[in-house]
Amino acid sequence: MEKLYEGKAKILYSTEKSEEVIIYYKDDVTAFNGEKKDNLKGKGVLNKKITKYFFEYLEENKIKTQYIKDRDESSFFAKKVKIVPLEVIVRNKTAGSFCKRYGVKKGINFENPLIEYSLKDDSLGDPMISKEAIYALKIISEEKLNYIEKTTLKINNLLKKILEPKKIDLVDFKLEYGYFGEQILLSDEISPDTCRFWDKETGESLDKDIYREDKGNLILGYENFIRRMGI
Ligand code: C5P
Repeated sequence: MEKLYEGKAKILYSTEKSEEVIIYYKDDVTAFNGEKKDNLKGKGVLNKKITKYFFEYLEENKIKTQYIKDRDESSFFAKKVKIVPLEVIVRNKTAGSFCKRYGVKKGINFENPLIEYSLKDDSLGDPMISKEAIYALKIISEEKLNYIEKTTLKINNLLKKILEPKKIDLVDFKLEYGYFGEQILLSDEISPDTCRFWDKETGESLDKDIYREDKGNLILGYENFIRRMGI
């Protein structure tokens, strides 16, 4: 097993098949573009479990993802994709950087989900990027971005649909996509590291804001999310 890439929260390993990789979830947690970091024992297992659950659910609902099959408690097999260098952010309610940027309070509902894009570049701090700049810089074609946008809105609806009966609000989340040949697949992860989940009644965070804002024990929060979802 050769290490192909190590990110802040995951490691990619090669397999004997050139078109497959192993995605291993680390216990590391970072925030504010890596300025705050820690190692929280057990976090990788929890995030892998949650991502596997969401990817399988989305596959069952005709969303094409890079997920192939489970491997062990910290890793799964996935199609080897070339990541589109964009973070696709969906917001159903105001929170996080949106509130900071526009000086609005958190928790305001949007009538329609808002999609924002950031350029995936750690050295630049993942700056927000307009669609016009995406096309001007030829990062991706209009046709492909339209597909990503349509798929993203479907994913938003599907996620809201399974969170709703558990009385969990999907406030916002980040998706990444990757090329697998000509196909574009949902890639990376969907976990409390990349989503904001709020208890519908109390507003309690069940996501990485517990760590970002020092609101308690992140592991207990993620375990609570898993229990409530029945994963
Ligand atoms: O920080 P911000 O409010 O823009 O984040 C919006 C959503 O995108 C949050 O759910 C956050 O967890 C996620 N996100 C992410 N990775 C980033 C930036 C944001 O998962 N690099």
